Amino acid sequence: MTSTDVPRTAATAGAGRHETAQRLLDSSAMLSYDPATEVDWETPLDKNFHGASPEWSTLYGTSYWAEMSTEQQKELTRQEAASVASTGIWFEMILQQMVLRDFYAKDPTDPAFQWALTEIADECRHSIMFARGAEKLGAPPYRPRRLAVELGRVFKATAGGEAAYAAILVAEEVLDVMQRDWMRDERVVPFVRTINNIHVVEESRHMKFAREETREQLEGAGFVRRRINALVIAIASYFIVSSMINRDVYKNAGLDTKRALREAKANEHHKAMMRSSCAGLMEFLGSCGLLTRPALVFYKRANLI
Ligand SMILES: [Fe+2]
Ligand SMILES: [Fe+2]
Repeated sequence: MTSTDVPRTAATAGAGRHETAQRLLDSSAMLSYDPATEVDWETPLDKNFHGASPEWSTLYGTSYWAEMSTEQQKELTRQEAASVASTGIWFEMILQQMVLRDFYAKDPTDPAFQWALTEIADECRHSIMFARGAEKLGAPPYRPRRLAVELGRVFKATAGGEAAYAAILVAEEVLDVMQRDWMRDERVVPFVRTINNIHVVEESRHMKFAREETREQLEGAGFVRRRINALVIAIASYFIVSSMINRDVYKNAGLDTKRALREAKANEHHKAMMRSSCAGLMEFLGSCGLLTRPALVFYKRANLI
């Protein structure tokens, strides 16, 4: 707890949760999207556009980037955007299962219960939207590497409490910062901008809920549980972030995978983009006491701090 937080009893925390969930439900009723009708799925892909803001490319700023033709750079950002969307689907499936398990057999009249189902419904629409978007970008199915898939399988079946909600928050925040840039960027293909706009609007509610739940769940956590989950969240974050860009994007953009991977790995520009965009998230995790020394090792490895 930070010095600015008002000490909360179980009763006031419950009331806060109730109010937050009700506000989120009201907001969702006022502004939600149906990607099936909102996104322009009909117009064929215009290859004059990028798939993402070039500054977010893992190769932007490298000597390889400088050697690439504009067409190649655009193809790369389209493949990278498709990879991010595909990783989004992977994580949204993990998330839906964790939230569904968390609310199993709880009070259905509680706004938090109804909000949880609303969020799951949002994610279900998002995943279909990302799937169609990646396909339209001309990308093959990108899936995380085997180890991430198998660890995700265990995590989605077992994680609960703050471990689940803080991991959800990390994934949503990391996507959010990129997508806020892409949705405003006129160099990005219009249908991708719409997809990102929809996602940013709906995820801002999810992030509020994830923050609230993380704080709430931590209130009952003792020292040992807090330390263990701080590390679990950091490891989950590392796998989420390192799965964002599939290594095959380079080959599919007509590049030399080995050289691209080498230069992407050493790309200080991209690392700085990640760090600066995750500053608010890290501050939040710090205020929850989740930035323990072992956890920091993984956040640093993921270039989040
Ligand atoms: Fe989503
Ligand atoms: Fe979400």
